Amino acid sequence: MPKILITSALPYINGVPHLGHMVGCLLPSDVYARFMRMQENEVLYIVGTDEHGTTSEVGALKAGMKVEDYCLMNHKRHYQTYKDFNLSFDYFGRTSSEQNKELTYRIFEALDKNGFIEERVVKQIYSIDDQMFLADRYITGTCPYCGYDKARGDQCENCTKVLEPTDLINPKSTISGSTNLEVRESKHLFLNLPKIEPTLREWLKTKEAFWPEVAYSIALKWLKEGLEPRCITRDLKWGFPVNKKGYEDKVFYVWFDAPIGYIGITKQWADEDPQNRDWKDWWYDAKDVYYVEFMGKDNVPYHTITFPATLLGTGEPYKKVDFLKGASYLTYEGGKFSKSENRGIFAEDAVKEFPADYWRYFLMSNMPESSDTNFSFDLFAGTVNKDLNGVLGNFAQRVLKMTASKIGSFVPQGSNMTDEEQTLITTLQEHINLYFKYMKEMEFRKALAELRSIWVEGNNYIARTEPWVVIKENEERAATILRVCLNLIRIFAILSAPVMPNTAEKMLGKFGLSLDTSRGLKDFNVQKEIDFLKPGTPFEVGDMLFERIAPERVIELQEKYGRSK
Ligand code: 2FM
Ligand code: ZN
Repeated sequence: MPKILITSALPYINGVPHLGHMVGCLLPSDVYARFMRMQENEVLYIVGTDEHGTTSEVGALKAGMKVEDYCLMNHKRHYQTYKDFNLSFDYFGRTSSEQNKELTYRIFEALDKNGFIEERVVKQIYSIDDQMFLADRYITGTCPYCGYDKARGDQCENCTKVLEPTDLINPKSTISGSTNLEVRESKHLFLNLPKIEPTLREWLKTKEAFWPEVAYSIALKWLKEGLEPRCITRDLKWGFPVNKKGYEDKVFYVWFDAPIGYIGITKQWADEDPQNRDWKDWWYDAKDVYYVEFMGKDNVPYHTITFPATLLGTGEPYKKVDFLKGASYLTYEGGKFSKSENRGIFAEDAVKEFPADYWRYFLMSNMPESSDTNFSFDLFAGTVNKDLNGVLGNFAQRVLKMTASKIGSFVPQGSNMTDEEQTLITTLQEHINLYFKYMKEMEFRKALAELRSIWVEGNNYIARTEPWVVIKENEERAATILRVCLNLIRIFAILSAPVMPNTAEKMLGKFGLSLDTSRGLKDFNVQKEIDFLKPGTPFEVGDMLFERIAPERVIELQEKYGRSK
């Protein structure tokens, strides 16, 4: 069985995930993982929290907690949110785990041994009152160019000039407000990217034919601009202490150990259950593994340059990315999602307002693939009402109800199928083949458009054949049509399962079936599946699959979560 390794960019632990994070990497990675499992591949799907760095230290400080407790609390919160969205990861781990520490050390030692680590002295701002070096964005002051008094250490928001923290007039710490700052020199370790560059270029060349063009061109752009040695250590407490003499009081930079976290989390998973494969089966000399990474576009350089260079520099056969899917951004009602300004719907609230499948379907069918996409409650309600309620939900309800009232709550016998059914089967199979092709290619908008077309074919068929009219003259023919329609409900359920697992379960449940025991998607043949439910199989009508979202509710939601600016 082919082995497919799937990772989603690891969300920062101190951030609250919003719909943009969900649609950028978490949801598509899950849909792909579910699809690939249903295609009978062996899948390992890894997610977790990215925990180290200043932002976690500052977050803990603000919350009045120890950073370890703060991270554990937030890790659980992230986990719950993703579970509520029905993400089917095999393990939800942490970059702060012992396993990740072991791997980070191992990789660092190999890089050092191979001569890719160098020492440099850097000048940094130290806050005496905070007792820490301040990252550039934690320093503000007056811009020397325009006089704006809230310029950050890395850039002035007002005149957009790029700054060094030492350029600022009257600099102060944004953590404590203290102006008791001084410039201190500190020794740091750098990953010598220019030295790894030739190997990196060779490796990149082998990807040109396979990666999406955007990802490949971002990587090339970085190379063209020239690689600089990259500082991989920090003067902080929260992180892995550097395993090199003279550097014990420093920690690795969060972006050094974060991607290694994919491997570390795999080891967490492996350690949890002796039945699980060893991490090396997925990551080390694993020629039989196809590795797919999901991320937002801002993450592409790290995943195409820095992380592969880190792995290449070890000289060891670590698995590197085979395909990566980068997403653009989702905006909220025309602006940015912002927790501090209370604008935008965040993931944990979203699933309290509507079932996860509404979001999963909406977000995947509007995924910002080639350009940024806007989220609005109008669009959301429109999609739920039209596609889910109007097309899929309505079809299922109509068929179940009609059969129950005109014939009985079981699959009717009827007679042989006609050309009408053959046409339906051929059309459906064409859409299904395309749906699978796009899913495999991770062209999600196109894939979801095909899925929708598949449901539409059900409606077209029943509109064409009019069983409610036919039944008056030819009961047997009407029974045949309804038998076919009932089978379509099961077919639609299985096909929709990667996107809407709960709805699929609900649909199958009407016939006493479940996804676990159902066939998957491999070699899916409509001609065969259309006869799966045998005459006499009982069903339950039950509730509508989806609820309509009324215009008043849209206004309510806009008021609650912020309107466009
Ligand atoms: O951009 C982000 O949200 C980072 N936390 C992603 C890290 S991906 C991987 F390197 F861990
Ligand atoms: Zn300025």
